[in-house]
Amino acid sequence: MEFELESGNKISGVYELDGHLATCNLNPQVRVYGEKLVDYEDKEYRLWDPRRSKLAAALLKGLGTFPVKNDSRILYLGASAGTTPSHISDIITQGVIYCVEFAPRMMRELLTVCRARENMIPLLEDAHKPANYQGLLEKVDFLYSDVAQPNQTEIFMDNMRLFLREEGQGMIMIKARSIDVTRKPKQIFREEASFLKEHGFRIVDKVDLDPYEKDHRCLVCEFAF
Ligand SMILES: C[S@@+](CC[C@H](N)C(=O)[O-])C[C@H]1O[C@@H](n2cnc3c(N)ncnc32)[C@H](O)[C@@H]1O
Repeated sequence: MEFELESGNKISGVYELDGHLATCNLNPQVRVYGEKLVDYEDKEYRLWDPRRSKLAAALLKGLGTFPVKNDSRILYLGASAGTTPSHISDIITQGVIYCVEFAPRMMRELLTVCRARENMIPLLEDAHKPANYQGLLEKVDFLYSDVAQPNQTEIFMDNMRLFLREEGQGMIMIKARSIDVTRKPKQIFREEASFLKEHGFRIVDKVDLDPYEKDHRCLVCEFAF
């Protein structure tokens, strides 16, 4: 019942229950975003909704790599109220996830989630200015970015350069409509991919998130060297 990637590799910490993606609840009996809780063999699981979490959508759409392990250190840009970060928190029981969010209203909701989960560290910061939080975290194994800004790729690259360890990987959820509503998403995705390659990143995996999220593409990247 561990979830299997398209490659056939199983992901430790991500499960499939009756055809639904799920993680094992680190904070039993507590929901984060109204998700369903399911008891199975003495453990409680939270169903992971691909319409509420782009990471769940990417897994279901055939992501071939999932660079998150039980002890991963993670930087998450655009944590919002903690929907996706909370599922990652369930997976990395020996790790830590630094959650950057700049909107005070979202941060208030995020704080409620972080208070009950020791591995989630909230940072009220602007991801445009990574130097401002450089002293607050260590190098990370995995960087996840979902900020829906016109310069989302630049924000991702700046944070990757500052915080990702050499062998680490990053994942960006590109929202075409945040970049330009008038142009075809495919053209925007191609341009953002070229932008990443020109700046020294290699794209190791990609999936489109429709029908769960329209006009979004998930890219997994690492340093090209
Ligand atoms: C699409 S939502 C993220 C949803 C979240 N990733 C999830 O799956 O649960 C984008 C979030 O990024 C935040 N954001 C946008 N620009 C940001 C920035 N420059 N610094 C920090 N957070 C930012 C927004 O306030 C918003 O909460």
